[in-house]
Amino acid sequence: MKIGFIGTGDIAEAVITGMMRAELPIDSIAVSARSQHISSKLAQEYAKVQVFDDNQQVVDAACDLIFLSVLPQQAEAVLTPLQFRNGQEIASLISTIPVENLAEWTGATGPITRAIPLPPVAELRAVTVLSGPSARLEAIFDQLGGVVVTHSLDEMNALTIPSALMGTFFGLQEIIVDWVGTKGVPEPDARRYLSSLFLALAQTGAGSDRTFPELRAAHSTPGGLNAQIFQVFTEGGGDKALTEAMDSVMNRILAASAKQD
Ligand SMILES: NC(=O)c1ccc[n+]([C@@H]2O[C@H](COP(=O)([O-])OP(=O)(O)OC[C@H]3O[C@@H](n4cnc5c(N)ncnc54)[C@H](OP(=O)(O)O)[C@@H]3O)[C@@H](O)[C@H]2O)c1
Repeated sequence: MKIGFIGTGDIAEAVITGMMRAELPIDSIAVSARSQHISSKLAQEYAKVQVFDDNQQVVDAACDLIFLSVLPQQAEAVLTPLQFRNGQEIASLISTIPVENLAEWTGATGPITRAIPLPPVAELRAVTVLSGPSARLEAIFDQLGGVVVTHSLDEMNALTIPSALMGTFFGLQEIIVDWVGTKGVPEPDARRYLSSLFLALAQTGAGSDRTFPELRAAHSTPGGLNAQIFQVFTEGGGDKALTEAMDSVMNRILAASAKQD
């Protein structure tokens, strides 16, 4: 399989690293010379990665599958001049841009699927959301941590929201570690303790068939400390603030999609 990436930034690097680590049956990976610190590092590390000076050369070298991994605001200008091969498959990692716009800008006749890989695909540890079925992409991302195939734009948009919680994930831990620090605990000790606790809890969730309400109940003695924190948190509007934050991002995604129409 010959593949390529238009845009060689952080997420392209993570996907390529995961693909190489998983030893997928890939013959070559063409990347553009942009983000030179990343493209040259990838070419140095992996003999299968070839760097090309212009994007059309990347498209031409990637007979089977081309990943789009530029920023949304760069997409139209980058894609419009390119000539895609008849039937060439496209995987767009670009957030918020609908398939219809990608089809118009690329003039592509092959399948176009949107994908939301997250940085831990580099360690084969993140499930990737796909906008629809694609045997090739499902086979690839299955090896990089797993796949969820969605069946509507609403489903795809909804699953975009958790991927926007990565900053909040660390932000919550920042608040907790700061609070623990006010009681005199050194930051490295608090961070190490909290990280290992959250890691263990995430592993419990990932390895369990129980729902989150069931897991919360299982980790909260009635009247105990865990139950108290959750009660005070929700009574103080913590759940409402999180829901509002997710609604606001959903509104932004819908507005961006509407603007592209
Ligand atoms: N990062 C994530 O966790 C993540 C997850 C899922 C989806 N995404 C999506 O993936 C896309 C890329 O995100 P990112 O975080 O990887 O961004 P990034 O690091 O800024 O990467 C963007 C890449 O596009 C390149 N580029 C810009 N103009 C170009 C052009 N004319 N021709 C070729 N390449 C060009 C940039 O090169 P220069 O550096 O040389 O300008 C850079 O390599 C975005 O649409 C984002 O929404 C990101």
